[in-house]
Amino acid sequence: MIPQQIADTIVDPRAYADGDRVDEAFTWLRANAPLAQVQPEGFDPFWAVTRFADIQEVEKQNALFHNGDRATVVTPIEADRKVREMTGGSPHLVRSLVQMDNPDHFAYRRLTQAWFLPQNIRGLEPRIREIARGFIDRMAAHGDRCDFAKDVAFLFPLHVIMEVLGVPEADEPRMLKLTQELFGSTDPELNRTGKAMDRETGVQAVQATVVDFMTYFNAMTEDRRANPRDDLASVIANGAVHGQPLGHLEAMSYYIIAATAGHDTTSSTTAGALWALAENPDQFRKLKADPSLIPGLVEESIRWVTPVKHFMRTATADTELDGRKIAQGDWMMLCYPSGNRDEAVFDDPFRFDIERSPNKHVAFGYGAHVCLGQHLARMEMRILWEELLPRLESVELDGTPKRMEAAFVCGPKSVPIRFRMT
Ligand code: HEM
Repeated sequence: MIPQQIADTIVDPRAYADGDRVDEAFTWLRANAPLAQVQPEGFDPFWAVTRFADIQEVEKQNALFHNGDRATVVTPIEADRKVREMTGGSPHLVRSLVQMDNPDHFAYRRLTQAWFLPQNIRGLEPRIREIARGFIDRMAAHGDRCDFAKDVAFLFPLHVIMEVLGVPEADEPRMLKLTQELFGSTDPELNRTGKAMDRETGVQAVQATVVDFMTYFNAMTEDRRANPRDDLASVIANGAVHGQPLGHLEAMSYYIIAATAGHDTTSSTTAGALWALAENPDQFRKLKADPSLIPGLVEESIRWVTPVKHFMRTATADTELDGRKIAQGDWMMLCYPSGNRDEAVFDDPFRFDIERSPNKHVAFGYGAHVCLGQHLARMEMRILWEELLPRLESVELDGTPKRMEAAFVCGPKSVPIRFRMT
């Protein structure tokens, strides 16, 4: 039997804000019921997949485990009903790569896949370095104290992806606000209403945010069709899939995923990395002495923060996993933070170790849906640390950091620090 409290914890936004509470629940599940059928209060039952190997096993069989058949994010029954009512039966408010399966997934992904390959994004490096330097100068201008999450980490990846997409700088605050409303819909400090919402109001607020995004990107599509430029928005606006222009919902969703997942995840990881360095001065000193350790810092901070907490899959046929019978239609929660703390894969998984080797985590997912922006995310963070570490002489926490209250995409929302910089 799975204690009800464990089932409730893994969908509880406040448990993710607490950090320890969700880690303890996952540790219990990995040890006692790594593939557990759970039913948190107010939710349909689902399988919690908590071991690294099982997460990969599900992810690599993308015909057997679909993304699009049910909600891709764990959704309470009432909220799911509301979404279907709004969409005329679909469990999804948007239709991005995340909600697609083949043949559409392959066709839509191919449209931008080459654009995101390392050999293509390498050309962006000088400009990203210039942007990073600008934010570091602004950090230095704060004196000896700042909130690293709000003053640096949220803004740098936002600026990079908006430039890549082709969104003007003046609209970045709006994009940040909409992203935080979307991913922070369960966080009273970040959501659209600025207070705790019941599940039905929560869905309505998310829908209103999606409509705002769509209104913005609709105008952008029209502009890029009339005046194509060298930006990602032009690729989406003028692209063809199955020999036709992209569907309206699909095009809007493409922009939305890039304009949200394309920075929030990287920001959370960057903020979490500095928090970890402030708490582990030995690691900070090692990095200062040997910058060749920076790629290790990047990889370990992605594992450490794991900003995407889960995605759901739905079994398309009866099958077996780990000796358990999975029925067609069963919903599976891929618990990435748990996979990234799996004792069978990582030595001392709760230790932050920039020299961890190997460090093959599942923070970017795995298989056909593996994160499209992973190389860009790594490159941005490497550049930021290459520029920041030589100038940062000391850093310590200046208060208690806070994490977002969310069970899907989240990380630190405040990391107050005291620092010395040249
Ligand atoms: C998908 C994590 C940065 C765009 C994903 C998935 C994860 C993830 C876990 C789902 C993979 C799966 O289902 O197997 C992260 C993390 C990031 C990050 C941890 C930063 C540290 C980015 C960036 C972009 C991006 C910078 C740029 C646009 C996408 C897209 C998908 C995706 C488009 C959907 C891919 C598909 O379904 O085929 N990401 N991501 N991500 N990510 Fe990221």
